[in-house]
This record gives sequence, C-alpha cells and structure tokens, in this order.
Amino acid sequence: MKQFFSVNDITSLSQAVQSALTSKQSPFADEALGKHKTIGLVFLNPSLRTRMSTQKAAMNLGMNVMVMNMTSDGWALETKDGVVMDGNTAEHIKEAAAVMGEYCDILGLRSFPGLKDADEDYSEELFGKFAKYCGKPVVSLESATRHPLQSFTDLITIVEHFDYQYDSVQEKLVPQGKKPKVVLTWAPHVKALPQAVPNSFAEWMCRAQAEGLVDFVVTHPEGYALKEEFTTGATVTTNQDEALADADFVYVKNWSSYEDYGQITCTDKSWMLTLDKLEATNNAKVMHCLPVRRDLVIASEVLDSEHSIVVQEAGNRVWAAQAVLKEMLKNQ
Ligand code: CP
Repeated sequence: MKQFFSVNDITSLSQAVQSALTSKQSPFADEALGKHKTIGLVFLNPSLRTRMSTQKAAMNLGMNVMVMNMTSDGWALETKDGVVMDGNTAEHIKEAAAVMGEYCDILGLRSFPGLKDADEDYSEELFGKFAKYCGKPVVSLESATRHPLQSFTDLITIVEHFDYQYDSVQEKLVPQGKKPKVVLTWAPHVKALPQAVPNSFAEWMCRAQAEGLVDFVVTHPEGYALKEEFTTGATVTTNQDEALADADFVYVKNWSSYEDYGQITCTDKSWMLTLDKLEATNNAKVMHCLPVRRDLVIASEVLDSEHSIVVQEAGNRVWAAQAVLKEMLKNQ
C-alpha cells in the first residue's frame, strides 16, 4: 500500500478488518516490521485520537515516531504555486514535504477544509501536493473531504458488536443471519463542521453494503445532502424517525451543508439523539467519531447509557492505524 486516502485504497474490507482484529489480539506480533523505520505525523489542525492512536500503532510495530504540529511549531506553509512569498507564509510545501520525506519512511497528514470554496476543498490539492513532493507513502490523518482511518475504525467496531464469522477459505466476513441496519444521522451543532467524517463513513458503508456486510441508511434535514459520489447505493431520507426504525447502529455526526457550501442552514434541536428516539431502534449501539458536544449533538443520557460504544470505537483507532501501517511497511 503506497497511500491511504480513501476506501479505494483497501482491496478487501473483510481482510482489512481481520488484519486489524488480529493486531488487537496480538499487538506486538509485527514489531520487527517497523524496526529502524520512522513515521512522521504532520498536523495542520488539532487532534487527540488520531495523533495518539496512530502514534501507538506505529510504536506497536516498532517504528520511531515524530509528531509535527505545524500551526504551533512549524513555519507557516505556502501551498499555492506561482506566488511571490512576500506575505505571512515562510516555507513552500514543495520544500517542506520533500524535507520531511528525507527524514521519514511513511508520512501522515491532517489538513481540514477551508469550507469557503467547495471546488478547492474537494480537489484535495494540498494532499496531492504533499504526497507528490514528499515521495513517501502517505496516510491520511483526515483530509478536506475524508477521514479514512476513522471510517475503517467504525467498520471494525460494527463487526465487533454484531454477529459475523470470518470464512477463512473465502477470506470474507459473513453476517450470521440478517445484516445490521446502520444509520448515519445528522445532528445539530453551533459551528460549521467539515463533511469529511460523514463523507468517509458513507463511502465505507456503501462499500460494506456492496460487499453484503450491512444495510445502510443516511438521514439529514433538507439541504444537507452529502455529495452524491459518497452515498451511491445508500437509502437517503429526511425523516429521521423512519430511518431509526429497527436500526442496529446509529452513527451520529454533524456536518455543514454541501449544497449551501460550508453553511449552517438548520439549527433544529430535535435532531439531537435522545433515549426516546432510540426506542424505535433494535436496541441500537450509538457511535460518534468524537469529540462530541454533550446535549447538543447527543444527549448525555445516551452517552452515559449502554447504547454508547463511542469509547470502544475510539480505542479501535489503534487497530485501524496498525492494519494500514502494517501494509505500508510490508511494501518497503
Ligand atoms: N475522531 C478524531 O479524529 O478525533 P481527533 O480529531 O481527536 O483526532
């Protein structure tokens, strides 16, 4: 594996999940793989889970880890080509990425969208340039439009909390009985947030649905449709109650409008997930990528209940990252 930007970089979801769960059983089984290899984790935005889980995964594989928080510790980066750098930016991404490639065998990058210009954000130009100029395998720690390590984690967590068997002859996960109904629901927020997590979750769940692993439903208010390429094959509805009926997993997330790009066009608090709403589900497990604002996005009564698996989900970030880094190291 030379890059991990999206679900398209995974050949088999079943085998990827199995690899992650194998690492969870034996975290240090592959510690020789990363000996004398270095990963650089580059953050242009804040992080708790991505930073610590990827660092831990790399250490489990015997790697050296360097973390660079660009906004507090690095030079201000220029990302555009052909500009005279007489403003506030001190270093061009061309040199910065190339230099990091000199120090590291694998690089990770987090860079959020500006949420001003959809075409610019969805071009993923910054990621493309970073990958090109560093010349090393790059893992997305969340880009403008996707958060694949989170979505991989989410699939692992769903598999762990439902009845699947791994058929080792066909190398496929097989749900025992009916497939789980997985619902992605929009929730209110006071800030305009990126679409990266819901885009990515939807993309992974659509693929999982195509591979016979889940049934997938997306629900959001009018005006919050995700870009179509991420939801192909999903059932999409603006009726949250209808979507939640018989759900086995409810994935809660706010996102800003794609149609009215980067704007908050709905503040309807009734979209917050409560225990009352969960009555209609199949005793659903509740998921969120975190951080989550209590009693705005999800009611505390839900987060503090048996429904919530958000902490176990965050714990699985390590195994998703470890499965990806294992594949990258095997190719080195
Ligand atoms: N879910 C997630 O990516 O968390 P952080 O932003 O804290 O890394």
